[in-house]
Amino acid sequence: MFKRIKEDMDSVFGRDPAVRSRVEIFFCYPGFHVLRFYRFGNWLWRHRLRLLGRFVSHLGRMFTGIEIHPGASIGRHFFIDHGMGVVIGETAVIGDNVTLYHGVTLGGVTWAPGKRHPTLEDDVVIGAGAQVLGPITVSKGARIGANAVVLKDVPAGATMVGVAARPAARTSRERTEPGGFAAYGTPSPNVADPMSRSIEGLLEEMGRLRTLVEQLQREGSNEPTQTVAGDEADEAKGDAIPPNC
Ligand SMILES: CC(C)(COP(=O)(O)OP(=O)(O)OC[C@H]1O[C@@H](n2cnc3c(N)ncnc32)[C@H](O)[C@@H]1OP(=O)(O)O)[C@@H](O)C(=O)NCCC(=O)NCCS
Repeated sequence: MFKRIKEDMDSVFGRDPAVRSRVEIFFCYPGFHVLRFYRFGNWLWRHRLRLLGRFVSHLGRMFTGIEIHPGASIGRHFFIDHGMGVVIGETAVIGDNVTLYHGVTLGGVTWAPGKRHPTLEDDVVIGAGAQVLGPITVSKGARIGANAVVLKDVPAGATMVGVAARPAARTSRERTEPGGFAAYGTPSPNVADPMSRSIEGLLEEMGRLRTLVEQLQREGSNEPTQTVAGDEADEAKGDAIPPNC
């Protein structure tokens, strides 16, 4: 149990830049609290204590504003940031390293028995307010934009936005990490964004120009100076310094 608690805390450290300490997570993170209720409720549910499981889930909802059905299946390193308004249905299946923001629904669209809720594979990120509906699969590493409504399967690594969700135009991930996978939906910090790369290029160019100017100044000061008068002196300078400098 303590190993799971530590893992859940580590997930917060990996994905919320605002977090400062484990004590803060312990007292101030509803996404962390609700997992305590969920794990106990899920244990009861699997041991056929269904009503008790539902009741524990309901207590978790009252305490955190996050509703996770105890029958849902959730992998490791799961993180719900902010949390209020999240609803996770009974037959939802969630892989490892998945991140949800507030207002996300993993919901059903049918009364038909069997699997009614989505499956999220590993490393999926679902933006605030997104609704993922039906027994669809959001494949590994996919990202769902804030407020999207997803009604169809999502391919691995895709970024879906809008209502109904469609692939986003070229995203920051594609611009900075072509073909690569960016954990947690953001380009990794060691990859410079295009603006930083342009600024770095300009700074390098400035350095080269400064060196050239210094070299030209040195060459100019080595020329025989005041010994030649008038036009001859101008000619000498003209040889040393290119006309456009
Ligand atoms: C979908 C998402 C992951 C894409 O991020 P990104 O890779 O940085 O993508 P970009 O911002 O470069 O956007 C790519 C395109 O998708 C569009 N887009 C991005 N997010 C969108 C959204 N939620 N809804 C509609 N369109 C969206 C952009 O306008 C852009 O289209 P354009 O080039 O035609 O203008 C991100 O925008 C998002 O919604 N993340 C969820 C964040 C969240 O919920 N935060 C809550 C914190 S409390």
